[in-house]
Amino acid sequence: MNPIINVINNRTSLRKFSKVPVSELHKKTIIKSAMRAPSAGNLMLYSMILVENKDTLEILSRSCDEQPFIKTASFALIFLVDYQKMYDYFADNNFHSYCLEQDQKAVYPGLSDLLLGSQDAMAAAQNSVIAAESLGVGSCYIGDIIENYELHRELFNLKDLSFPLSMIVFGNYPDNYKPKIQSRFDEKYVLFKEKYRSLSSEELHDMYRENEAKFQSNNPFEAKNAAQVIYAQKIGSEFGLEMKRSVNEIYKRWLEAGYKDE
Ligand SMILES: Cc1cc2nc3c(=O)[nH]c(=O)nc-3n(C[C@H](O)[C@H](O)[C@H](O)COP(=O)(O)O)c2cc1C
Repeated sequence: MNPIINVINNRTSLRKFSKVPVSELHKKTIIKSAMRAPSAGNLMLYSMILVENKDTLEILSRSCDEQPFIKTASFALIFLVDYQKMYDYFADNNFHSYCLEQDQKAVYPGLSDLLLGSQDAMAAAQNSVIAAESLGVGSCYIGDIIENYELHRELFNLKDLSFPLSMIVFGNYPDNYKPKIQSRFDEKYVLFKEKYRSLSSEELHDMYRENEAKFQSNNPFEAKNAAQVIYAQKIGSEFGLEMKRSVNEIYKRWLEAGYKDE
């Protein structure tokens, strides 16, 4: 099989790392591969923060919803959506006076720009994961980096237009260890031809059938069905609420950023 497809098909998230750190060469290759990702207008509306300091990894293992394996990683890359650099460049080069001369109101980064930067950041992030896997380096996304915004802002000296969208932890595989490959939903529930369509109740039960089978043997939330378990584990959970609070603060600062300079 094509070696890249083989890497994609055999990749799993790794949450148990060898004590042997990732080599400098592999680390550099992973970072360079992230930077080769496509980028809107080739403006690279993201930045990465390389975290190797064990104390910082320890803090992150607590602030990202108590996930102790984070501190055992060789390093982490935090992918920031970053308009700060471009905005500072505009400000340094008198975009305000240009707008006045053109009789235009100054326009500041909006949620559309935030989403465009997010597309850039995630393209880079996934490139790093695939590059790592191809080198025999394991990785795991940490979505919980969008929690505790104020703490992470302070910890990493972030600005209003640079915030952490995703984090990936990297490390070598322990000897003779490879996590089980997780199944995916059936393609017919993920790939729609030409137009989106809503799924019927029967199709939804079928789509979630593995969760429903597990629910019969494991019901930690006094739930009445598998859907209620997923709800309780995800959007209705304590971490889900913290994510919402934290991201609302990110959006607020982002949308207010330019207006503060007027
Ligand atoms: C956006 C995103 C956020 C994730 N956040 C976490 C996380 O905080 N902790 C974790 O252990 N795994 C996290 N994962 C990994 C998923 O749990 C994992 O991809 C999924 O269970 C499928 O397993 P696989 O990657 O081994 O195929 C995340 C994955 C993605 C794409």
